[in-house]
Amino acid sequence: MKTLAKMACEVLETADGRGKAALSRKYAAEWVASRQSDTPIEIGTANPPMQPSRPDKPELLDPRDVPHRKPGTIEGRIAILHAVAHIELNAVDLHWDIIARFSDTPMPIGFFDDWVKSADEESKHFNLICDRLEALGSHYGALPAHAGMWRAAEDTADDLMGRLAVVPMVLEARGLDVTPGMINIFKQAKDKETVEALKVIYAEEVHHVSYGSKWFHFLCGRHDMDPKVAFHDLVKRYFFSQLRPPFNEEKRAEAGIPPDFYWPLAEEAGAKR
Ligand SMILES: [Fe+2]
Ligand SMILES: [Fe+2]
Repeated sequence: MKTLAKMACEVLETADGRGKAALSRKYAAEWVASRQSDTPIEIGTANPPMQPSRPDKPELLDPRDVPHRKPGTIEGRIAILHAVAHIELNAVDLHWDIIARFSDTPMPIGFFDDWVKSADEESKHFNLICDRLEALGSHYGALPAHAGMWRAAEDTADDLMGRLAVVPMVLEARGLDVTPGMINIFKQAKDKETVEALKVIYAEEVHHVSYGSKWFHFLCGRHDMDPKVAFHDLVKRYFFSQLRPPFNEEKRAEAGIPPDFYWPLAEEAGAKR
């Protein structure tokens, strides 16, 4: 039987978006079934590619070169959904990458359960948003998308605590800050189906952030480190943008990220400007 690390690599090496999402969901289901059986899939080890395979389209541009469109127009809403689809596909790869990349770090099996579940949910999110794009007459790949989203993964390829600090606890937490505003845009446009899709994403993303916080704190305990100090050090080392308020303090708290983790980083960034 294939190891979990090998499955993760196969997802990373699948270029087509819908194909990647389908394989991701299939392997997640196999993992869950094996965990309930007497023959659990082994974690194994793997050499994941430094960058995941991706489709030829969308064209990847520097964020400054991606055209901005007004959210009050259908073109603007399609652009928002296209950006979300790109984030979700990236997230599918990020969760399988943490499994494959750190498969040689001894971790409780619940660590792998959590990221397999997250990867499965991101695959569902990608499909949901692609369905909405298609219903609105577009598709993933029709517009340019942000390059550089994989940077955090490359920068933290050798540092599991850095990966947890930057990916779930900064980038995915940022999703909690901005999703309510996005839901409002689609509410105003009376696009109920998209509102429902975004609500599913919003509810499930809280868990991804909480898994990040859980395993970050676990590793701080293992290495006898102060979690807040370690978080600040790692974010400064690996995150090259700013933490920007307003923060969704309620959902961040639900996900196990207290205000003294993020506010000092936002204030320092503000003071630098
Ligand atoms: Fe997601
Ligand atoms: Fe997520």
